[in-house]
Order: sequence, then C-alpha cells, then structure tokens
Amino acid sequence: MTAPDSLRGGPAQLRYRDGELWLEDVPIAEVADAVDTPTYVYSGGAIDDAYARVAGAMASITDREVLVAYAIKANSSLAILSRLASMGCGADIVSGGELRRCLQAGVDPDKIVFSGVGKRTEEIRAALQEGIRAIHVESPDELALIAEEARRLGVQATIGLRINPDIDAETHPYIATGLHSTKFGLELDVARALLDRIVGERHLRLESVACHIGSQLAAVAPLEEAVAILARFALECRAAGAPVTALDIGGGWPMVYGDEATPYPSYAEFARSIRRGLEAAGGLDFDLITEPGRALVGQAGLLVTRVLRVKSQSDKRFVVVDAALTELIRPALYQAYHGVVPVRASRAPATPADVVGPVCESSDFLARGRALGTDVAAGDLLVVLGAGAYGREMAMAYNARPPVAEVLVEGEGWRIIRERASVESLWALERF
Ligand code: LLP
Repeated sequence: MTAPDSLRGGPAQLRYRDGELWLEDVPIAEVADAVDTPTYVYSGGAIDDAYARVAGAMASITDREVLVAYAIKANSSLAILSRLASMGCGADIVSGGELRRCLQAGVDPDKIVFSGVGKRTEEIRAALQEGIRAIHVESPDELALIAEEARRLGVQATIGLRINPDIDAETHPYIATGLHSTKFGLELDVARALLDRIVGERHLRLESVACHIGSQLAAVAPLEEAVAILARFALECRAAGAPVTALDIGGGWPMVYGDEATPYPSYAEFARSIRRGLEAAGGLDFDLITEPGRALVGQAGLLVTRVLRVKSQSDKRFVVVDAALTELIRPALYQAYHGVVPVRASRAPATPADVVGPVCESSDFLARGRALGTDVAAGDLLVVLGAGAYGREMAMAYNARPPVAEVLVEGEGWRIIRERASVESLWALERF
C-alpha cells in the first residue's frame, strides 16, 4: 500500500479537526459549499509567516538596508500584493501590466525592481515615470533605450545590471536561469563593457548589480558563488566610477512541495552562505535585495476541487475532479509534484489513483499514482497542496473554462478576493 499524501506541502495553518480539513479557523468544506469549486484558497497567516521567515533570514545577513521584492509573477492577486506591501514588501516585476498591478495594490514604487529580457519601450517609459527602484538591464541595446527614454523624460533612470553568472543552480532545467545557455541577464564581460557608457551618461545611475540563478535552489553553494561574483563585480563598478549601493541576489528560496527525498537547506543556511559569498568578495557594504516568489505564497495556497466521478480503466483508478491543468499547469508542464488530500479524512485503505481533470489532454493530471482512500466518490472534496505560486497565475481558459474564484482566509473569517469569471466573459471581447 502506498503511503497517503501527508499535509507536508501545505502550511502549518492546515489541520484536520475531527476528521475535517480546516485552514486557520475555517472549515474548507464551508468555503467550497459557498463559492463552489474549483477555488483557490489562501491562508493570510501563512503568507505573513513566510514573509517574516525570508525577511528575517535577510536581516540576519547584514546591518545594511534589506528589501524583499516579491516576484509577483508567482501570484499577482491584488489582495495578496497589498497584504505583503503593508508589511513593507516590495516587488519584482516583469511587465508593464505587473507594474500597474503593483501600483493598484499600493506597492511603493521605490521598492519595485523590473527584470525581463523583452521590455517594451512603453513599459520602460512607465517605469521611469513612476520612478521605480531599478530597471534591470539585460542587454546592451536595452541600456541605450533606457538612456534615450530617460533623456526624453528629463529624468535620471536608476538601473541595475542583471548578470548571468553562468552558474548551474542544479534545479529543474525549465526553472534554471543562471547559465549562459539561457536567455537571461548579461555575461560579465558584456556588462563590464557597458560601464563607461553608464558613467558618462548623466541620465543613468547604476544602483545595483542583480542576478537570479533559478528557482527551488536545492543547495547553498551555487547561490554563494553567484553572490560572490555579484559583489566582486559591484566593487569593480564602484572602482569604475559607478557607485553601486545594492546587490540583488534574485529569488529561488525553496518551498516544500512534499515529495522531497532530502530536505532543502534552511533559510538560515542560505543566509549564512550569502554572507560567506559577500565576505569572500570583500563586499559587505551593500544593501541587499531578494526576489522570492513561491517562498512567500506557495504553501499558503490550496486548490480545492470536487470529485466528479471515479472510473477504472486498464489497471488504473482515475479520480476525475473539476480542476484541471487549466487551473494548475505545473504537473503537466514540469511533472511537478503537488500533494492531494481529502477534505474529509478517510479510514478506508488507500490504493493508488490518478487525479485527473476534465480537459482533453493526456497530460491533464494533477497527481499520478497517489494513495487515496478506496472510498473516494463523486461529490467528495479534495485539496491540492502547495498551489499558491504559479497556480492561478498560469491559469488559462482552454476548453472554455473560465478563471476560477480565489478566497483569502484570515482567522475565523474568509472572503472572496477574486470572483469566479462567467462563461460570457470569455467572449466579451470577441467580435463576429
Ligand atoms: N526573480 C526573477 C527575475 C525571476 O525570473 C523569478 C522567477 C523569481 C525571481 C522568483 O523565483 P522563485 O523564488 O519563485 O523560485 N512557473 C515556474 C517558475 C518560473 C519562475 C520564473 N522566474 C514554476 O511553476 O515552477
């Protein structure tokens, strides 16, 4: 018998009470009955805790200023953004749309950094007009464009140079970003060659050197090495007359999904390794920025789904649920693991089952070969764990499936933070 999925990929706020699953002080079934399914449900307390963990680890590295710039691509919900912003959190954005979202949610522009290899002219212009903390330069012609736009607007652009340190982050190839073979950042030599131009241009001010080597960092050594490279280069920049004040070490703080054979290093270990990287380079006098995405919201989020039917085929048991790859594409795209647990605990023996959605793709599965009670039946509620990051955010409307609702739980209360979209909304912008 396969062991049942535990609650390991979920937040500490998720508990069985008398055989029923609760998030904080709210029974999940109550939300599902009121809002229908599929629905994303987040624990506000878990987001607060996660922010405190990352901010605390960062503060332990240095006495200088520390900024946690949340990579909002993980989950750009306005309610979540404003919650994080009220705790002092900033944002890492990758588009003009994300900039607008941040402003809408009340994120301080001075805490926003803008990464991305393909920024459009109007996105650069908007960032300059809002006076964000830093635009991260990822190619030489982008630097020229930023300077030109800053000149045109009569402002000084605060920029960072995003370095591609050519480091193997030892993670899934689709979420590794620090190798030269990926499209991200500038090779050191290319960045170095830009310094004269930056120093000689009064509409540019180099405030930071940045990198993001990848997600789900499973070891501390690659980050330590990357930080040392960043700090050394930042000191070079200073020597060249560009007074860099901050290092942006990117995101990648891992979250537990629940299938890990070996545990991730603790955030304290990451903090110590970042400190070692700074020390190795003789670069302790920099402000520090980090860009966590999933670490802040991943475990806080659950995807609640209802069983539509159970069918056996060949030697398999398929549990067909109302959520699909349209709501959570990570299993299909990265073969990612997400725990799946029943809302009502089962005492029946557990046997393997594939949890699949209604979408017409063989890759439409949320979990494969998972131990689920033999009594799982139509109408039961299941919860997909660790779904707060890159879940709703990567959702699509394939098979005419409208975007689902989102709910935020806070103590004994809960509220809808995004209404379920109507089917009509899918064609509202279409014309015959
Ligand atoms: N900073 C930059 C510049 C990034 O590109 C990313 C993520 C982050 C920070 C945050 O990474 P995190 O801390 O969340 O690992 N859809 C994939 C993840 C793509 C990540 C892209 N960049 C997934 O579902 O795993």
